[in-house]
Amino acid sequence: MHEMAVLNFGQIDPAIESRVDELLARMTLAEKIGQMNQGDVALMDDPDATIREGCVGSLLSIADPSAINHYQRIAAAETRLGIPLLIGNDVIHGYRTIFPIPLAEACTWDPALLERAARIAAEEASACGTNWIFAPMVDISRDPRWGRIAESAGEDVFLGMTLAAARVRGFQAADLASGKRVVACPKHYVAYGAAEAGRDYNTVDISERTLREVHLPPFKAAFDAGAGSVMSAFNDVNGLPATANPLTLRTILRDEWQWHGVVLTDYNAIGELVEHGIAEDLRAAARLSVLAGVDMDMITNALGAHLADLAARGEVPEALIDAAVRRILRLKFKLGLFDRPYVDESLAERIILRPDFRVAALDVARKSMVLLKNDGQLLPLSDTTRRVAVIGPLADDRHAPLGCWAGQGRADDVQTVLDGLRAVALQGVAISFARGCDVTGDRSDEIDAAVAAARAADVAVLVIGEDAKMSGEAHSRVHLGLPGKQQALLEAVHTTGTPVVVVLMTGRPLVIPWLAEHVPAILLAWHGGMTTGRAVADLLWGHANPSGKLTASLPRAEGQIPIYYAHKNTGRPAQGAGTRQFDEAFRSTYLDEPNTPLFPFGFGLSYTTFAYDDLVIETPRISRDGMLIARAVVRNTGRQAGDEIVQLYIRDDVASVTRPVKQLQGFQRIALQPGEQQSVRFVIPVQQLGFYGSDMQYGVEPGSFTIWIGPDSARGLTGRFEVLAERAAT
Ligand code: NOJ
Repeated sequence: MHEMAVLNFGQIDPAIESRVDELLARMTLAEKIGQMNQGDVALMDDPDATIREGCVGSLLSIADPSAINHYQRIAAAETRLGIPLLIGNDVIHGYRTIFPIPLAEACTWDPALLERAARIAAEEASACGTNWIFAPMVDISRDPRWGRIAESAGEDVFLGMTLAAARVRGFQAADLASGKRVVACPKHYVAYGAAEAGRDYNTVDISERTLREVHLPPFKAAFDAGAGSVMSAFNDVNGLPATANPLTLRTILRDEWQWHGVVLTDYNAIGELVEHGIAEDLRAAARLSVLAGVDMDMITNALGAHLADLAARGEVPEALIDAAVRRILRLKFKLGLFDRPYVDESLAERIILRPDFRVAALDVARKSMVLLKNDGQLLPLSDTTRRVAVIGPLADDRHAPLGCWAGQGRADDVQTVLDGLRAVALQGVAISFARGCDVTGDRSDEIDAAVAAARAADVAVLVIGEDAKMSGEAHSRVHLGLPGKQQALLEAVHTTGTPVVVVLMTGRPLVIPWLAEHVPAILLAWHGGMTTGRAVADLLWGHANPSGKLTASLPRAEGQIPIYYAHKNTGRPAQGAGTRQFDEAFRSTYLDEPNTPLFPFGFGLSYTTFAYDDLVIETPRISRDGMLIARAVVRNTGRQAGDEIVQLYIRDDVASVTRPVKQLQGFQRIALQPGEQQSVRFVIPVQQLGFYGSDMQYGVEPGSFTIWIGPDSARGLTGRFEVLAERAAT
């Protein structure tokens, strides 16, 4: 495959360092502090004057290219030193061409495809003047109550690392059509996804081992891929807010990882140190955040207001300010801003919504949707289907598919499921539509019409779930069933006896036990971006074969949360599926539900079937610095071509600290024609299989390991290998 050229902001370039030295030497303390301030022109009394005085190093949430050029001109041409601005924006799942939400994108398990999606977002953003993208969001999330699970890659560390790196490469592509550069900002550093009870911004209290093994690795992967900045999170971690946390911001980021990028806080996170109760006022908050390792303040203006005084009184060493400004200037030089500060205002028209971008969005959408159930091969709809009733409040909704954070996306660009089904249907197929009810609220007066439509049809396609506002930042939920009257609508349509296909549109894993039991076919479409309708239609009519697999477990009940496949075994593990406390007393189970999820991590069906055979471990005994090599034969045993996502899991059977029952360590998406088979081979550095011991040092311990190669986290061929204490004899 063609390797795209990518910018690496992690490397130190002596030529740039000397330009930074020269500039830094000419700066006053006030000018330095100005660089550490990120502002929003919409909230400034006199933005022109503030920028002209050198009080701002960066702007956020500004999209109009001519406005960006206006402010950039003031910074570059009218300030004493002519330092251009970083222009930062949230580009979460597309800029104007809107892709599926990141959680859905992750279900493609296709890093190359997501690299391209991120690159397309960067193409559009950069053509409009953005040079700093506040993404990827790399928080591991194991709690579907948390609304921001929609922005994440899901529950898994290895997948999260792989996709974090892919997205950084895409955003930081070196050869964007604008001729300009973009820097990525992985967020939210760190452990933001571990909020207690899934409530956004809530406290995080986890072991240092969990921090290092689960939450830090995707950030490290993003930096290794060249990411030039990071956003410090709102939450506190083990007693210290992430925006004033010397362990994570200084010891780990700078001392251990030797990373040279810029730390930007999240929105008013310095100000919130007062609410956290670790600073008596903004001045103290400014001091704590800079001492801990923050370089730039998003929006609080705490540094602008107090840092000069803190430095004058010796409460913050000037060397820390110099180091922060050095990192900011380095980023600006690397972005080429001093040489080319302005954006060509005619570019946007040529680049925004390019037809090939739309094709890519459709490709991602089709590959991101997960077929959860397909009893009796109800799908794909057959040629004999003549009357389709499309039902549900989301079937013709142009907003929901855009998802929780659609950047510059517009509802007018969206193809709804109803649009898509009509566009793709064979001639002579009659498509009726009934909304049935609202997404939320108690109105149910349209349910009768929906029932009548279902009765008159060969098949009912119900498009139900969450609207775009039910997930994302500050949108956590505790009831994860179908909202409003949608369950009543579903049950009413089901009683007609007309076969029902549910298209589930959602920003998070929902709790859907009734649906899973009673409805024969379920396609989890997520919030699939602007081509959602076409993607759903292609999958339902069989013009494309579903291939997405879950990257977050679907619970049976909210009470199972947090739920994730890579859990520990406990000393009293469930035997079988659990729930039999009285038969098997005193096990780690529930009285009223099995421990297992309704649908496990890695799960997804296809219109074809795949068989796994012949697991071969080529390296049954390996040294700690060796490579694990294993393979299995995967065969398409059905009658259609299809993609399969082959997954490899490992368990360290006995270790000095407890280890997860399995951990994903490799995956491959392969395409197979009917009857075709492929030997799928994995080569995995043994060093990847390590963990943090009781001394908090990373390492691989010798001993026995179990391996699985299979279609999801609950199934697979299994074998054993051994890691040797000594180097293997060759
Ligand atoms: C707060 C969000 O947590 C963060 O993800 C975002 O980048 C900033 N606001 C800026 O909009």
